[in-house]
Amino acid sequence: MSPKKMIGIIDSGVGGLTVAREVMRQLPQERIVYFGDNARCPYGPRSSEEIRTFTNQMIRYVFQYDLKALVIACNTAAAVVLNEVRQSTQLPVLGVIEPGARAAISASRTGRIGIIGTNMTVQSGAYEKALRRINPNLYVVSLACPPFVPLVENRMLHTEEARQIVYETLAPLKYEEIDTLILGCTHYPLLAPLIQEVFGDEVTLISSAEETARELSTLLSIQDIHAADHGCLLLPEHLFYTSGDAEMFKATGEEWLGVEIKVEKRDLEGIFL
Ligand code: DGL
Repeated sequence: MSPKKMIGIIDSGVGGLTVAREVMRQLPQERIVYFGDNARCPYGPRSSEEIRTFTNQMIRYVFQYDLKALVIACNTAAAVVLNEVRQSTQLPVLGVIEPGARAAISASRTGRIGIIGTNMTVQSGAYEKALRRINPNLYVVSLACPPFVPLVENRMLHTEEARQIVYETLAPLKYEEIDTLILGCTHYPLLAPLIQEVFGDEVTLISSAEETARELSTLLSIQDIHAADHGCLLLPEHLFYTSGDAEMFKATGEEWLGVEIKVEKRDLEGIFL
């Protein structure tokens, strides 16, 4: 395999950077091409048809590169199209839902698991299906948290308003006696300190981002396709594209990733499927 092969990561916006950050931390030799569809974010309240079209346009874009794996880092997109995409390509395609579900099962001692995500992710029941496929006897409770994504997108993470919104939104889950909570949306790991505060230390938070990077690492090992296996020892230069404002993406990206990045704007509307 060519050592130049890359990891494609797609998301509805900046949220998938939580996955990119974990991939960069756990797999520092791997080169990433990232597409964030910021111009059409959020996907959470959209119809399945729109999510399918938009996600396939992003996939078409990153497929111009020589990929060795594709990560659909957006929970909402993965909930709608993951299986279809897997059937349409030979490339290994990872979503964020199955890794999150597996990690939650491994973390839970009581079998009482909570899931939080966008409206579409919760409505799709994708996490419940992934959990029950492994263990049908789990107690599973889901809650859509639509106010959370705007808190992150509008850079309000550290405000008193954010704290209040997080407490109010999560109130229905407080008395469910869960011991594990899946952060089923790319943006939620950024709110993890506040979410942990609501539930206390006895509830384990599962970040799908971390688990997905771990599964990607396993996949590269099993298939013998780590960059270093093919002589890539220099730190790679990643590629970042957004359909939205490149400067805003760069500011958020550099803050979250802690490194300087180059970002270019690309229009997806003209990509016909
Ligand atoms: N990336 C989305 C997800 O993980 C959150 C933002 C959106 O609604 O597009 O579900």
